[in-house]
Amino acid sequence: MAMAYSAKVREHFANPHNVGKIDNADGVGEVGNAVCGDIMKMYLKIENDVIVDVKFNTFGCGAAIATSSMATDLIKGKTIHEAMQLTNKAVVEALDGLPPVKLHCSVLAEEAVKAALLDYYTKKGLSVPEELANAACDHDCEACMH
Ligand code: FES
Repeated sequence: MAMAYSAKVREHFANPHNVGKIDNADGVGEVGNAVCGDIMKMYLKIENDVIVDVKFNTFGCGAAIATSSMATDLIKGKTIHEAMQLTNKAVVEALDGLPPVKLHCSVLAEEAVKAALLDYYTKKGLSVPEELANAACDHDCEACMH
């Protein structure tokens, strides 16, 4: 039986927002899922603590592309502190849900954003905020690589 994807998931998969690469990005995060083999790379341009631009490249399933697209929409124009609060749940809600077997794809999107923020702090030589330092995966996701 075909999986039920929401209209929003299908829309973001067919026309993903913010696809591409940012040259000289302030933060770059790459994460992967060892089980499905999908890879997500996120680029951030940050000015005065605000994410002024974000792009992504995802080599993965439709849900991974849709969640990457939605995650970039949710953090664009936000402060780094706000972006740090992004959860996979918020991404799923903004997409009007995902089939349960695809929830791990949204975890990848959250992790990509956090990995890019972590890279920003590391590159700048700034001390890493607790929210990011403790961002190690605590999701109950059996497909998770952690
Ligand atoms: Fe791998 Fe979706 S199946 S991220």
